[in-house]
Amino acid sequence: SLDSYHVSEELGFILPDPLEKLPLYYQPWMDIALRVPELVHSQELRTLINKMPLLSSQFLQKHKELRLAHLALSTMAMGYVWQGGESDTIEILPKSLAVPFWEVSQRLGLPPILTHADAALANWKKKDPEGNLELLLSLPGGDSVQGFFLVTMLVELAAVPALRNIPVVISGVRCADSEAVARALETISQSLQDMTDTLKLMHVYVEPSVFYGIMRIYLSGWKDNPSMPKGLVYEGVNTEPMEYSGGSAAQSSLLHCFDELLGIKHEEKSGAFLTRMRNYMPPAHKQLIQDISLQPSLKSFVQQQDNEPLNQAFQHCVAKLLALRNYHINVVSRFITVPAARARQLRDKNQTSEGEMISRAPTALEERGTGGSGIMIFLKTVRDHTRDAFLPDT
Ligand code: ALA
Repeated sequence: SLDSYHVSEELGFILPDPLEKLPLYYQPWMDIALRVPELVHSQELRTLINKMPLLSSQFLQKHKELRLAHLALSTMAMGYVWQGGESDTIEILPKSLAVPFWEVSQRLGLPPILTHADAALANWKKKDPEGNLELLLSLPGGDSVQGFFLVTMLVELAAVPALRNIPVVISGVRCADSEAVARALETISQSLQDMTDTLKLMHVYVEPSVFYGIMRIYLSGWKDNPSMPKGLVYEGVNTEPMEYSGGSAAQSSLLHCFDELLGIKHEEKSGAFLTRMRNYMPPAHKQLIQDISLQPSLKSFVQQQDNEPLNQAFQHCVAKLLALRNYHINVVSRFITVPAARARQLRDKNQTSEGEMISRAPTALEERGTGGSGIMIFLKTVRDHTRDAFLPDT
């Protein structure tokens, strides 16, 4: 069952009812983590983190406490590293932050950097009885940060009916029930369509110039990043620098699950990036992907059955996954490619005026995603290989 993979029937990969507070002992963390945007703005964040007491992580016990601690420590770390932009980076994360961050990360099986599992899956609360949502912790960029992470979370929510039907498909294949498999695949298709429709909300709630000019650097990491070429020393943990990738939609377990179910085979380089990103997921979610991949092939089953409604349901699913990936490319062109071209233009004309937010964006992220991939080539390669999953015309 999904439950045994820490996947909720109602919320999928989203953490149900995240804690909003840590035990009182950890107040020094929360006092800073709650104020990261303003402390970055006043350039005080590094000073305050340098003065932070070194707290023991041993009073964190439950999973939800560890998740909130990881969210708080990773939010502080992103602010600390990027407070000075791409030209004023640091080499060492101070031990009062690095040591507990490392310990909490080890216990959760997550990397010591901000991930999708933190910012999008464990960063929400209901702000009123109507059920409107807000973030627990934020980064510089105002309402667009809230919009970006909450819309990402709503996409996760839209995928829940699809997730619930993965076990239905698998058991239907096992007992050769074509009708049950076809029905479950149609539900998955509908849910993929809902994910695409939900992703459209990015255009409503996120301002491209704020996303490109202000937010992105705080989501970026210290691997495959020319402005942090050596990585980062976690003081008190290791004397050698370590490299970790920034946030990426590839850290969401959703598309990994659908790819494995539908038998999508990725190209070598993009496949390697996707596989590496599984190590940036909660281990139980990574295990679910793994276990889906070990099931008998759905595509072979569909081909053996040679049953028209089943064929159509399968094709429909691949088409909806393809459409979602195409729409994602569209979002990336509006939020990254277009502003990047504008920033280059301004640089060439020497018009990097104060008023132009986008000209302040790091040049290292013009072609790259915050996860470090060559973003457009990566997304298009993945999209093109999704197409290969269609059943051949007969
Ligand atoms: N991965 C997204 C970006 O590159 C967040 O901006």
